[in-house]
Formats: sequence, C-alpha cells, structure tokens
Amino acid sequence: MDSNLAIQPTTDGKAFDQAQVPLYYSRKTADILHKYGPGPRVHFHVGLFAPGAAPNTTVAQRVLKRRIVESQEAIVAHAARNWGAYATPPGRLLDIGCGVGGGSLYWAQEHGTKVTGLTVTGEHVPVIEDFARRAGVSGRVSAVLGDIHDFRTKRRYDAAYANESSGYMDRERLFQVVAKSLKPGGWFGIQEHFIRRPEWAEFIDGYYKTRLGTLTEYITAAEAAGFELEQDEDVTDGVAEFWVQSMAWNTAELDRLERDGGQAGAPGRTAWSRERLQESTITHGKLFRIWRDHAMETRLLLFRLGGGS
Ligand SMILES: C[S@@+](CC[C@H](N)C(=O)[O-])C[C@H]1O[C@@H](n2cnc3c(N)ncnc32)[C@H](O)[C@@H]1O
Repeated sequence: MDSNLAIQPTTDGKAFDQAQVPLYYSRKTADILHKYGPGPRVHFHVGLFAPGAAPNTTVAQRVLKRRIVESQEAIVAHAARNWGAYATPPGRLLDIGCGVGGGSLYWAQEHGTKVTGLTVTGEHVPVIEDFARRAGVSGRVSAVLGDIHDFRTKRRYDAAYANESSGYMDRERLFQVVAKSLKPGGWFGIQEHFIRRPEWAEFIDGYYKTRLGTLTEYITAAEAAGFELEQDEDVTDGVAEFWVQSMAWNTAELDRLERDGGQAGAPGRTAWSRERLQESTITHGKLFRIWRDHAMETRLLLFRLGGGS
C-alpha cells in the first residue's frame, strides 16, 4: 500500500485510516457468507424493493434471506439494464472493491464479461476463486488482491463497476485511476450512498469504516478526470425496505442464538456473536429512518469517459 495513502484527510478534514478497511472485512467475511450466502453469488450491498413495498417480516428466516438476496440481485440487474449492458455487454470489466465476488460473477454469468475483481482484503480472493469455479466461470473471473489507489493496467477495460466500495476510497484518486484504466468512451458505473444530512455521516462512517461523500464531490472528481455524468438515479426509496428485512433476519438470528444457548459458530448455526447481532440490529433501526428521511441517499451513477465516438 502507498504509505502516503495510509492515513488521509477526508472531505470534513478528519483522518481516514486506510489500513482499517482490510482488517474490518477480514473479521466480517464469515458473517457475510453466513447472512448472504451460500453463494456462489454473494453480495454485500443494499438491495432494491419496489417503491412502497413492505413485505410482511413475520415469516421464516429463510424467506427473509431469500428476499434480501433477491433484492441485491435486483439492484445489480436494474443498474446493468439501465446502463445499457443488456444491449451492449462490456467485453472486459474492472469490478472495484468486489467483496466476495457477487457482482463479478453476475457480470461473468449474465453478460459473458471477462471480469477482474479487485479487493483490498486478502481473505476474499480464495473465496471468489472457489465461487467462480462453482459457477463455472473460472475462466472469466480473476480475483486480484490490491488497492485501487495504486492500480495500474496495460490492457484497458470497456467498463468499471464499484458497488458500495467507492465510499472507502479517495474519490479524486479513484476517478484518475479509472480514467487511466478505461478505453476512450468506456463507462464507470457506481452504486453508492451519498451524504445529504452531514450530521449522520460520522455515525455511518463509524459503523461501516467508510468515508462517504456528497454527489457534488463525486461529480467534481469525475469531471477533473475526464468523465461526464450520464445517468443519476436516486433509488433511496426502493432501498429503505432493505434495512427492515435485514433487521428482521438479524432478529430471527438472535432468537436462534438464544435457543442454541449462545453457540455462535456451531455447524449450520450463526457465525455472528450476540453482541454483533445486537449492535447491527439497533443500527439497522437507525439506518431505516435515515434512508426513509433521505438523510442519506443511495444512487446509481453512470459516468462516461471522454474520447469515445
Ligand atoms: C461493501 S463491500 C462491497 C463488495 C462488493 N462490491 C459487493 O457489492 O458485494 C466493499 C469492498 O470494497 C473493498 N475495498 C475497500 N477499499 C478498497 C480499496 N482501496 N481498493 C480495493 N478494494 C477496496 C473491500 O475489500 C470490500 O470488498
């Protein structure tokens, strides 16, 4: 990692410790696989519900999980369709901050795209490779351990994708690196949360170890790197329900933990500790209200690099 980037000031002037991100995700990988797995397409981002839909949460836990995973798949497919990927699939795509590879496998399986999945968390790499094998797309997905701020490529990509990962990054550097990694006219699709009411930023950044920014900050950084904003879709209302369904899954998991006498990690049982579940559940209640009130907004952005036809 570039030592100049280890501790960086954020837009509000506070230091951001880059080294905490892989540590945070190493500790979380088992939790993520347990809640959003079993895969092979495992996502760690919010999902999309029809605006106004509020499916009953007093249902079996496996129903809640299915809904959560379907909503994650739905938002990825929705973005891909609106960004024109169904009509013109990208031949090669850089999946920036790919987590355990749900998005990378989506692009490879649904659009035949060759994907480089980049993650700063070492534990993710063998997990993605295993999932890609299970999905039969090992030849199209390569998982690479690295930091986007230092990423260089000789062969340029048709597209780049960052699903809830840009919030961990220095946006000026991110857009500069992506501009150098794309062919002229290539696109950069982003799913991210944006600060509307700054008083909530510290709470969310503290919980997810992010450094979320404003839409203006993104657009300024993108334009400086030679991108134009082509699409900006506010999906906050469709996403708010995700927190309710996710909170219901947590509550069901807490009930299970109580029944099992607190045996976290028992086979087929929870990987989560009671404390983690309780903290997550309380946080989800706040997150729902924050999203409902549009204090934070989730948006799907499509940027296009200049120089294309
Ligand atoms: C919220 S997860 C999103 C994962 C994935 N995009 C998905 O939608 O399932 C954020 C991911 O960003 C990665 N990440 C954070 N900072 C990064 C950086 N500087 N370079 C590369 N990856 C990074 C983390 O390792 C993690 O996998």
